[in-house]
Amino acid sequence: MSATKESIHGMWANRWVFILAATGSAIGLGNIWKFPYITGENGGGAFVLVYLVCIAIIGIPIMMAEVLIGRRGRSSPINSMRSLALEARASSWWKYTGWLGALAGFLVLSYYSVIAGWAILYTFRLGAGQFTNASPQAVELAFNNFLADPLLLIAFHTLFMIMTLVVVARGVTRGLELAIRLMMPTLFLLLLILLAYGVNSGGFAQAVAFLFTFNFDQLRAESALVALGHAFFTLSLGLGAIMMYGAYMPKNASIGFAVLTVAGIDTLVSIGAGLAVFPIVFANHLEPGAGPGLLFVTLPIAFGQMPWGSFFGALFFLLVIIAAWSSSISLIEPLVAWVVEKGFMNRIKASIMLGVLTWIVGLGTVFSFNVWKDVTFFAGKNFFHSLDFITANIMLPLGGLLIAIFAGWIMKRTVVEKELNMSSYGLYALWTIVLRLVSPVAVLVVMLWALFQEQIKTWLA
Ligand code: PHE
Repeated sequence: MSATKESIHGMWANRWVFILAATGSAIGLGNIWKFPYITGENGGGAFVLVYLVCIAIIGIPIMMAEVLIGRRGRSSPINSMRSLALEARASSWWKYTGWLGALAGFLVLSYYSVIAGWAILYTFRLGAGQFTNASPQAVELAFNNFLADPLLLIAFHTLFMIMTLVVVARGVTRGLELAIRLMMPTLFLLLLILLAYGVNSGGFAQAVAFLFTFNFDQLRAESALVALGHAFFTLSLGLGAIMMYGAYMPKNASIGFAVLTVAGIDTLVSIGAGLAVFPIVFANHLEPGAGPGLLFVTLPIAFGQMPWGSFFGALFFLLVIIAAWSSSISLIEPLVAWVVEKGFMNRIKASIMLGVLTWIVGLGTVFSFNVWKDVTFFAGKNFFHSLDFITANIMLPLGGLLIAIFAGWIMKRTVVEKELNMSSYGLYALWTIVLRLVSPVAVLVVMLWALFQEQIKTWLA
């Protein structure tokens, strides 16, 4: 197999487009919506520390592994895993790692689109000044009424799915790359404007204390698993999204540099979102563990009381839409690329077909906020919470574990070395050790501890 061949879907114009695209995939609802609410649900500081450690010793090494597998394989994750397993004379079963990821991406997108739809409605609501001087109770009521209305939720879910598919259907260069080139500068500009606005509104101290006081008594096993799962989710790892983007990366670009840039920016954005949300939570005596609605209640309250709040509030939710949009395209691209590679149909038809299927599964998430609110699917959780738990906390870490083992133990060292092309041998050796031992063991320990703690305790007793 030639290592210099290009992907049949097209290629990014240069390494910066890869970095922007991967950053666009990484920064999304995970940073702005999910990170604050799961931090609130899991007690703050200790959870944040576990999350940061997971990013450093698991996320970064595995992200490098994904990019290098993608760039060597130059096709959808399913086919890259298949061809690289062949190249390494390993079992063809490795392709199921690609399948596991493709399925996870499909499932994540089904609920991601519903939540992104909330942001679309809230851009309009804030822009129209609906929350100006509204009481916290009124803002909460408005949100609960919205969740109780399946048709409205479906309307915005549909709109967001269409936005995602239009980009993916246009292909790598005219779709994904063009969208990334337009969206990412807008995203960074909005972030800067809102950061300046946020710093001037004050009230950081309590939020900083909440996020950075490490009280380990509060850390439950399940919280550690949520932190691990979130490290994968926020960096778009374990399901092949970054592997797919690696397949479009130019040959000469440095993988280490790109990965550190993406992971660094992504982490800063999450911490920034936490620092924006929690001052408002504490100042208004809201519940930090309020769950998925946290962002959609806290921020409208705060913007409703600030000068120019409608304008900046609408800008903020616009930022959420763009961040979600530049992520959603990477959730479905691996499956679309696989269907195209198989020759089943062209890219436009593949996007429509997969989009319709994703949309249908998304209805389950819509209903879990109203008609199926109390229907439980997995471990006492409703449809949305089950899907989120199974994908982020089980499928992604499992996918990441398999990827680490594949790049660390199965691939030929010469291939890996050539693909990574690191200037320092020491750093390369460090990466190899961490990827071979530290990351897999850490993932296994956290998963086994959290999922089977009862059994483990009885064995040990
Ligand atoms: N990283 C995205 C976010 O934080 C979500 C995502 C996960 C995107 C996995 C692609 C793959 O919102």
